[in-house]
Amino acid sequence: MNKITVTTLKEKKTNREPITVLTVYDYTFAKILDQAGVEVLLVGDSLGMVMLGHPNTLPVTLENMIVHTQAVARGAQHALIITDMPFMTYQINEEEAVRNAGRLVQEGKAEGVKIEGGQVIAGAVRRIVSAGIPVMGHIGLTPQSIHTIGGYKIQGKSKDATDRLLADAKALEEAGCFSLVLECVPAAFGEEVSKALSIPVIGIGAGPKCDGQVLVMHDLLGLYPNLRPKFVKRFADLGELAEKAVRNYVEEVKSGKFPSQEQSF
Ligand code: KIV
Repeated sequence: MNKITVTTLKEKKTNREPITVLTVYDYTFAKILDQAGVEVLLVGDSLGMVMLGHPNTLPVTLENMIVHTQAVARGAQHALIITDMPFMTYQINEEEAVRNAGRLVQEGKAEGVKIEGGQVIAGAVRRIVSAGIPVMGHIGLTPQSIHTIGGYKIQGKSKDATDRLLADAKALEEAGCFSLVLECVPAAFGEEVSKALSIPVIGIGAGPKCDGQVLVMHDLLGLYPNLRPKFVKRFADLGELAEKAVRNYVEEVKSGKFPSQEQSF
């Protein structure tokens, strides 16, 4: 497989080939996902929840994102690596936004950044893009605004709300985003936004007609039981498998079955 770039993604939209995106946070899984053909590895700030055990994404720092992006970059050969800009690293002013996006690329080895928000962050997007850093937008359910939204719930349920979201989507495209994540909206609206934009729209709980799909890897693999949104499909239950394996290990050490001759020198 050739190296995936933002241009490849644009071509996939033109050719109507669905784009696959998954979150990942470490070297070992980055290697597995890359070999399995995932086109975009998103170092999501969901790492705050699934890797660090926080209740939401708000405590995640730029340093957390840099360390995890470095690990992912060491494991990926083909996929495009995009990293989330954490809460409060791009909202204060455009200079800080560019500086922090630059650190994710320069120190973390990200190949682009993702930012949550609509028209209000268009200025920051413009500045980051002019610095040569590809930006992926993220609208709909934006977890960094959890306290404003009041919970992880579906967005775009009224005409007013979809009008606002569509205006946000167009403003982000106009500001130079190469792609847009659309989270937790009715499927018909996912289709409408995908048709309205020339950049790839990557849905998560936005129906089957988006240009691509993204999921949190831990949800897909059954590794994070704390939250189970309706839009998640569990493709495996690695959590259960891992617990079973570890129980066997404990049992074998206690009973003296492990280590045996085979594992001894
Ligand atoms: O942080 C994350 O995992 C994300 C995806 C849910 C899109 O932003």
